[in-house]
Amino acid sequence: MNIIVTGGSSGLGASIVRGLAAQDGNMVYFTYSSSVDAARELEAQYPNAKAIHCNFADEASIQALLNEIPTLQPDVLINNANGGIHKDHFYRTNPEVFLKGFELNVMPTLRITQEAIKVFRKKKFGKIINIITSAVINKPPAGWAEYVANKAYLLAMSKVWATECIKFNITSNSISPGFMQTKLTSDTDDRIIESMIEGHPLRKLLTTDEVADAVMFYVKASQQINGTNLVINAGMDLVG
Ligand SMILES: NC(=O)c1ccc[n+]([C@@H]2O[C@H](COP(=O)([O-])OP(=O)(O)OC[C@H]3O[C@@H](n4cnc5c(N)ncnc54)[C@H](OP(=O)(O)O)[C@@H]3O)[C@@H](O)[C@H]2O)c1
Repeated sequence: MNIIVTGGSSGLGASIVRGLAAQDGNMVYFTYSSSVDAARELEAQYPNAKAIHCNFADEASIQALLNEIPTLQPDVLINNANGGIHKDHFYRTNPEVFLKGFELNVMPTLRITQEAIKVFRKKKFGKIINIITSAVINKPPAGWAEYVANKAYLLAMSKVWATECIKFNITSNSISPGFMQTKLTSDTDDRIIESMIEGHPLRKLLTTDEVADAVMFYVKASQQINGTNLVINAGMDLVG
């Protein structure tokens, strides 16, 4: 299968690329923004992995990727990239931040998905897999308004794609992981990490490889599986 993974050179994206590229028959196209060396290393390690530069903050860079999607002939699109989190309480966040966050993290994902769907419709086959966050389930953490709202928007879109596209044999599913230690969360204080481990039902944090395994399940899954959102947080919302 031809698979596009956005944000595939670090964290969860890199785990997904490694897992998929290790399987025969897959050609994995992954985007990177700043992690140039990591992207080159993945390419060197896996002949069936190809890096494509795409910076969601740069219109020309997004347009170049959009133009390339028909040539890549994807069967699967994994929307994983995230341009960053603005952490602050809602009441003191400048409204511009919400607009900018939407433009950076939501709009490119929508545009990439539109181009992929055009290819999928011609093939009468396709899979869209969206990386959301367990923060959209039940209680959103304080200070993450911009991030959680954008992810909730993408979760709603995932259901829209699932309903609009299934008649063309195109599915859309989401995965909502709990906290993982990656570049995105690298500013998290050690004491907070310790308290998260203590409060975790398994007393250990989720890893990117565990979430990548779930992504690989969706890649192989029957098209009967559509419109789902797999929450991976050890049942924390039930237990805690
Ligand atoms: N870590 C968590 O606790 C957690 C929990 C739930 C969900 N998630 C989600 O998991 C996904 C992967 O995040 P991660 O935790 O693996 O963090 P990460 O290592 O920081 O990965 C983020 C990815 O987004 C890419 N990216 C950053 N800025 C970009 C930009 N301006 N344009 C295009 N791509 C850009 C990065 O590419 P470069 O490295 O090349 O810049 C990187 O590959 C995200 O959607 C995130 O919201 C994470």
